[in-house]
Amino acid sequence: FPECHSYLNQRTSLFPLLKPRKQNSHKGSFGDIVVLGGAKGMAGAAILAARAAQFAGAGRIYCSMLAGAPAYDSLHPEIMFRKVGEISLPGTTVVIGPGLGTSNLAHALLSKAILTAQALVIDADALNLIAVDSKLRVLLHNRNTPCIITPHPLEAARLLNQSAADIQNNRLLAARELARQFNAVAILKGSGSIICDPDGKLFINTTGNPALASGGTGDVLAGVAGALLAQLGNSMDAARMAAWVHGHAADELVMRGLGPIGLSASELLPEIRLHINKL
Ligand code: APR
Ligand code: MG
Repeated sequence: FPECHSYLNQRTSLFPLLKPRKQNSHKGSFGDIVVLGGAKGMAGAAILAARAAQFAGAGRIYCSMLAGAPAYDSLHPEIMFRKVGEISLPGTTVVIGPGLGTSNLAHALLSKAILTAQALVIDADALNLIAVDSKLRVLLHNRNTPCIITPHPLEAARLLNQSAADIQNNRLLAARELARQFNAVAILKGSGSIICDPDGKLFINTTGNPALASGGTGDVLAGVAGALLAQLGNSMDAARMAAWVHGHAADELVMRGLGPIGLSASELLPEIRLHINKL
């Protein structure tokens, strides 16, 4: 695309973005994340996103699951579970989609999040709901607070009314179209994720490998993007850093022999934390 400027999403352009934490900072300084998702049979997706937000530095993490709230996450008791009807969204960064399903309740939660969250990360089934609902499209388009959408190629195909093959054959163009149509920073996932803002500024991510081709890694990316959005305030910065560190964590784990075969999404979490701190 001659008219299309693209940049490589590299570490050197990311490390100035995260400032050292002030000595007198407190948990309120790093944002409240609310994860909405986890319908029956997909509860783990919401838990993974919530844990990822914890490891990526969010101040407080709340989680509401359509399957019903567990009392607590025994591995990560710092995550606070709330009933879907009792969660407060204003002022929070909402990560909506991991395991959300496409029920009426999922749809109602999504409308509420689009209308009331301060900042949004929209993933998975939340994107599938938007794809088939013109009212949600309009609501999203008219928002003027930060928003990141994280479609994989099939989700992107549904959003743009194209085939997944069309998306994959024109990834740069598809990412631009997603960002423009949905007034959000789009991360078009897959090998060489494309990150694009509504003005068409575009980055190609250079990290990541087939160790990430397993269920749950997308949920981790969504949680990391939410936590970084809460800390950085800027959707493009957060999306670029999330994509980079997610892939870099997988690359480092593979170098240590923990993949590409059999790496689990959960194992990415401490490695992501390490590399965010190294930035
Ligand atoms: N190279 C680099 N990165 C890769 C590769 C690869 N070969 N394969 C996958 N990835 C990365 C993607 O860029 C993305 O960040 O792994 C992540 C996969 O995310 P998803 O496709 O969303 O996978 P996941 O969320 O785990 O899928 C579970 O969620 O979105 C729904 O329909 C989806 O049912 C599925 C469920
Ligand atoms: Mg996914």
